[in-house]
Amino acid sequence: RFDGHHRVWLFGYGSLIFKADFPYIERRPATIANWTRRFWQGSHDHRGTETAPGRVATLVAEAGAITAGMAYLITPEVFAHLDHREKNGYLRLAIDIHFDDGSSELGLVYIAAEDNAAFLGEASEIEIARQIARSHGPSGANRDYLIDLAQALRELGMEDGHVFEIERHLIDMRG
Ligand code: BEZ
Repeated sequence: RFDGHHRVWLFGYGSLIFKADFPYIERRPATIANWTRRFWQGSHDHRGTETAPGRVATLVAEAGAITAGMAYLITPEVFAHLDHREKNGYLRLAIDIHFDDGSSELGLVYIAAEDNAAFLGEASEIEIARQIARSHGPSGANRDYLIDLAQALRELGMEDGHVFEIERHLIDMRG
C-alpha cells in the first residue's frame, strides 16, 4: 500500500507535538489560522478518569487567531491507529496548514468540538491549572502533558499565552 503516493499532512497541536509514537515520513513546524488552542477538552481515558477527568488541548474557532504546532506527513494507515487512540470525542477536520517557507498544504487535524460528551469548556487558567494538578490517567499525570507541551512550544520558539499561563500556575502551586 505504501507506494509513496498515499500520504497526508496531519497538524498536531497537543500531545502530537511532544509524543510522536507513530511512523511518519516527514515533520515540519507549521501554523493554522482562525483556530486557537484551549485546554477545554476533558480526558477520562488518557490524563484523567471517568469520575475525575483531566484537561487536554482542543482547538476553538477564533477569527484572526494563529496556532503553531507540528505537521506530520503520514500514510492513511497511520490514521487508523490514531483514530483508535484519540477516540475520546475528537473528529478529523480538513484544514490549510502553513509552513515557515510560505507554502501551504491541505491537511487534517483532530478537533474536539463542544458537542462531544467529554467537552468541559471555558475556565480560567488558574482553575484549569488546579484541575490539571490533581488529574492522573492511564497515559500519566495531566501535569506532565501540560509541562511537556509548554516545553516543546518553547523549544520551537512558538508563543502561546494560554498554555504558558497554565504552566506558570502549575509551577507556582508546587512552590
Ligand atoms: C494533537 O496533538 O493534535 C492531538 C492529539 C490527540 C488528540 C487530538 C489532537
